[in-house]
Order: sequence, then C-alpha cells, then structure tokens
Amino acid sequence: MIDSAMAKYPATGFEVHGARGRFNAAFFGLMEPYIEWNLRTHKRRLFGELPHAVVELGSGVGANLRYLPAGSALVAIEPNPHMHQRLRAASQRAGVHLELLDRAAERTGLPDHCADSVISSLVLCSVTDPAEVLAEIRRILRPGGTYRFVEHVAAPAGTPTRAVQRALRRPWAWTFEGCSCERDLESIIRAAGFARVDVEAYRLHTPVVPFNTQIAGTAYA
Ligand SMILES: C[S@@+](CC[C@H](N)C(=O)[O-])C[C@H]1O[C@@H](n2cnc3c(N)ncnc32)[C@H](O)[C@@H]1O
Repeated sequence: MIDSAMAKYPATGFEVHGARGRFNAAFFGLMEPYIEWNLRTHKRRLFGELPHAVVELGSGVGANLRYLPAGSALVAIEPNPHMHQRLRAASQRAGVHLELLDRAAERTGLPDHCADSVISSLVLCSVTDPAEVLAEIRRILRPGGTYRFVEHVAAPAGTPTRAVQRALRRPWAWTFEGCSCERDLESIIRAAGFARVDVEAYRLHTPVVPFNTQIAGTAYA
C-alpha cells in the first residue's frame, strides 16, 4: 500500500519528547483496559465489522487491534517512536500484519484512494491540524470508503465541564503531548467535505472530566 517512491515523510508538527513520549506509551499501555471499558459500546458498533485492510491514525500501543480479525492488515501511522515496540508486540499477539509508519497523520505518504477504511480513536485531539488530517483522510480513501472515529471533544460552551476543560487545558496538553480537550471536532469533520457524516455525541461518567465529552461516528468518502 505504501508508495515506496515517495520521499521521507517527517512527523509534521509532532515533536518527540523523550520522557513524555515514554510516559504516554506506558500510560496508554497501563490504562488500556479502563479506557476500553468506557469506550467499548461505541467502538464495537463502529469498529466491529472492519474490512481486512485498515489504515489507523495514531495507533498508540494498539488499543484497537482487538477489533481486527487475525490475518488482517493494519497500516499504522504513529509518530511517537516510544509506542512502537508495544504496538509491534501487540499486533504479533493479535495475529495482525503490521505496516508501521513513523509519520504524522497530516502527511501519511500513502497513495491517493488506496484505503477502504481509516480509523482513529482519541487522536484528532492531539494532531497539530485536524482539518489537514481530514483532508489527508479524504485523499487516501477510495470513493465510498469510510473513516470511523471515536474522539473526545469540547463540552458545550457555558457548562461546568467546559469550565473544567478550560482550567485544565495547559497541564492536560503538556502531559498528553499536545492533546487539546477544547476542540469542536464534530464541526471540523462535518466541514471536511465528506459525502455523508453520521455522528453520535455522548458523555462518559469518569473522574477524567476533560475526556468525558465525546463523539463517535462514520464519515463516508
Ligand atoms: C491519546 S493517544 C491514543 C492512542 C490510541 N489511538 C488509543 O486509542 O489508545 C494519541 C495518539 O496519537 C498519536 N499522535 C499524536 N499526534 C499525531 C499526529 N500528528 N499524527 C498521528 N498520530 C499522532 C500519539 O502519538 C498517540 O499515539
């Protein structure tokens, strides 16, 4: 699937931090069961019947490998090298053929219209420019292909949750390598030019308030 003739693709806008990169890899490895428990209903609905070849943006340590049937192929776009060892080990355990690209989602280097399915969970909050990433997703999807997402977003303006997100935005972004808890991702996805977008907004009830307001859905190329 990769266009080998293309030049090197730097991790656009993604800065690798030694300590925080390692911390995030360990954190998401450790917290995976808890995060999965909270998101499982939405992920099962969206990722439950994926095709056998999938492109995933920001795969982390492989939280979504459980949704890929053994023998399927995953192209993982993951610019944090500290995630890579765990991701490789997890894909081996899952029996998924992994093509791991140390690149940013803004510039994947994949050819036009090469993918039937692109997925992400908890990633558009962290990328430098979500609109640019969505344009890249549309470029690589085949007509009729789908982008399925589970993402955390800003709470409605004026709510107590929004106030907490505002107050915690800097330590949150510092800890989680640029993650914003203040993005209106539904509007950005709807404005990206997909043929159709289905989105469900919902709320988790966890102590991790910045992450509680979420959207899940499918955008059709
Ligand atoms: C909150 S973690 C989520 C990881 C995984 N998707 C999950 O659900 O556990 C965010 C992930 O996005 C990755 N990321 C950050 N900026 C990115 C970018 N510009 N392109 C692709 N991935 C990015 C991070 O390295 C990290 O693995």
